[in-house]
This record gives sequence, structure tokens and C-alpha cells, in this order.
Amino acid sequence: MRWPSRQRELLREMGVRLWVPAHEPVDGTQRASPAAEPAMSPLLAAASAPIALARSDPPHAESSPGIETMDWPALREAVAACTACGLCRGRTKTVFGVGNLNARWMIVGEAPGEREDLVGEPFVGKSGELLDSMLRALQLTRAKDTPARQVYIANTLKCRPPANRNPAPGELAQCEPFLVRQIELVQPAIILAMGRFAVQALLRSTEPIGRLRGREHRYQGVPLVVTYHPAYLLRNPPDKARAWDDLCFALERSQSTPA
Ligand code: URA
Repeated sequence: MRWPSRQRELLREMGVRLWVPAHEPVDGTQRASPAAEPAMSPLLAAASAPIALARSDPPHAESSPGIETMDWPALREAVAACTACGLCRGRTKTVFGVGNLNARWMIVGEAPGEREDLVGEPFVGKSGELLDSMLRALQLTRAKDTPARQVYIANTLKCRPPANRNPAPGELAQCEPFLVRQIELVQPAIILAMGRFAVQALLRSTEPIGRLRGREHRYQGVPLVVTYHPAYLLRNPPDKARAWDDLCFALERSQSTPA
């Protein structure tokens, strides 16, 4: 695949090193080989161990009945007022979502961190800066734009877990109906699931990200592409090239879905 110089600059900014094979002209780039998945360190393996989601009952947010028929204002209000799990006690602001309500791209992250909790918007910290530059390289943005270029971003959890700990299964189950309704309302052409909690919520899969990326999945009929979470990429810069491959793959899939 070839990328104009501006996009190559953005990729360099992201820390993605472009591999140019000997037969490619210097202005062209090629997807890095996805073949060699790095061996996982014991620490990472422990961190990516499957979480047990309590899934025998359909998800429900006890304090917000009727989520499945809510419109945007009602849904936003229900999230702001939610007390279905203990996270409501420690939150400053709920983090609902941001972007175009009719976006073609929907990005699903994990949970708000400290800055998100203060600002009330997903991905406004360091991870968000990386996410924004990755999106910019694809000419996508969270800022006001057309539905084709502006994404919608939401998290699996709408409240910050204390000290940024992992979301608990009960918290994920309580919060899930909000995300499900957001996806139904946006009706995106492509979903990008970032990180293992987004993947586990949407695909019900406990496979490591490395085994799920590089192919198309489906969520309620919508093409879904799996990639690493930006916070993981900040700690593991060499995997940025793989994440870039994933975004290019998602772009390709979104373009093959009718508008
Ligand atoms: N990480 C996430 O998954 N979501 C945010 O909103 C911030 C950091």
C-alpha cells in the first residue's frame, strides 16, 4: 500500500516505522508481516488471561430499565444517573461517548481513566493522543466533521474504575446495555474493538488480541476489527506497526460496506 508523504509523517509521529521492501519505490509502504506474533512474557500472559464474565443472564443495568428503546438524550441521561454498580460512588463524571451519532466508524475502548473521569470524554489522556494521531493518519477524526470522516468513540464502562484497575465482570455486565444501545443507534459500518475488555464484551471471546486481529469478525452483523489498546501500544511501541495494519484492514473493510 502507498501512503502520501503527509500520512508517512503522521505515522512517524506515532512511532510507526514503515518497512519498505527493496523492490518498493521509496514513496511506497507495505503492511508489516503479521506472521510473527511476539512471544508473550509471563507478565503479559497473566495480564491477558481471560476474565470470567458472568453471562448466564442477559445483561441489564438494574437502575435503567428500557435501555433498548432509548433515544440519544434518554440514553445519555440514563448513563449520567446510573447507580447500577459501585463505580458510581467514585466517579467525577460519567464518560458517555463522543463523535458523530451517525459515524461510519465506531471505536470501542475499555474504561475511563483519571483524565476522562474529570473531563467526561473518552480517550483524552496519553492513550487518546495516540488514538487521535492514528485516526488522523487515516483522515478520520473525533472533531466535528462529516459522518464519513468523524468517528464515534465509546467505552465498555462509562465510569472510572478506582486506581485504573481492570473492569470487574459485574461492572461490565451492568454497563453493557448502554454500549449495545449506542452501537444500535450509531449503526456504524465498522467497529474497531481496542483491547481485551472491548473484545470480550463484543465478541464474547477470551482469545488473546494477537489471535483475533488480522481478520474480520461480526457484531450484530456489523464488521468488527480487533486491535491493541492504545495504552498497551504506549508500553509496547514495536506493536504500533501491527496496530497500524489493523487500522488499514478496518479501513479496507469499511470501504467494502455500503454507505
Ligand atoms: N482507555 C480507554 O479504554 N478509554 C478511555 O476513555 C481512556 C483510556
